[in-house]
Amino acid sequence: MSDLLKNINKDKIPQHIAVVMDGNGRWAKKNGYLRAIGHKSGVKAVREVVQACDDLGVKYLTLYTFSTENWNRPKLEVNTLMELMVDSLTKELSGFMKNNVRILTIGDTDDLPNRCKKKFADAVSKTKTNTGLNLIFALSYSSRKEILTAVKSITNSVLNNEIKTEDINSELMDKHLYTAAIPDPDLLIRTSGEQRISNFLLWQLAYSELHFTSVLWPDFKKDDLFAAVIDYQQRERRFGKTSEQIKK
Ligand code: FPP
Repeated sequence: MSDLLKNINKDKIPQHIAVVMDGNGRWAKKNGYLRAIGHKSGVKAVREVVQACDDLGVKYLTLYTFSTENWNRPKLEVNTLMELMVDSLTKELSGFMKNNVRILTIGDTDDLPNRCKKKFADAVSKTKTNTGLNLIFALSYSSRKEILTAVKSITNSVLNNEIKTEDINSELMDKHLYTAAIPDPDLLIRTSGEQRISNFLLWQLAYSELHFTSVLWPDFKKDDLFAAVIDYQQRERRFGKTSEQIKK
């Protein structure tokens, strides 16, 4: 067993971990490869974190896989990423089934090329009765767009007299987001040394603990996840209260 794993308090495991998988391109450049190889190596890191979350009993893992802004990358890179996702899901699906992993997606999946959209829909459907880790892929995802879509939908409910303005609260907003059935992340990890949220889960991260590491995503191993969880377990989550109130 890893030394770091031994130091984890099993009674304080984050229920939901969200990850901004950053640094594939820089990893490729550093090692003299094309960016595509960086993304391909990133899939290995996905496997590592899925297994590590499984080891710990984490219930939800959300991966920022493709943002709406990523559509602006060179066409070749976008196509490579789409093909890589199709290929990876094909290869990983039997492992996900064996490990009882349930796949979910958030974002505008309708924007994905047909093959990719179908592959994710198929993985969601095949794994829908699995009861282990919920593995959520954020695809063509923009948090601002998610919030605006929710606001429009709530506005329509008011205009149609289904609800009153006074009924609008945080719980209602939660129900209109892509993440309606998913608890807010307890821990956000971003790799590669960047310290930004980049339009990811802006509403849902309100009280999440943030962990930034300089490790580039393809180098991210189980122990890096365990180190992030240990860091998380040392934080005092006060949710606006005082330290004394929390300790009661
Ligand atoms: C960010 O690194 C990474 C991405 C935009 C893609 C991440 C996607 C995967 C690893 C594929 C996983 C898919 C499945 C289905 C398992 P970057 O390119 O922004 O790196 P840079 O900032 O160093 O250029």
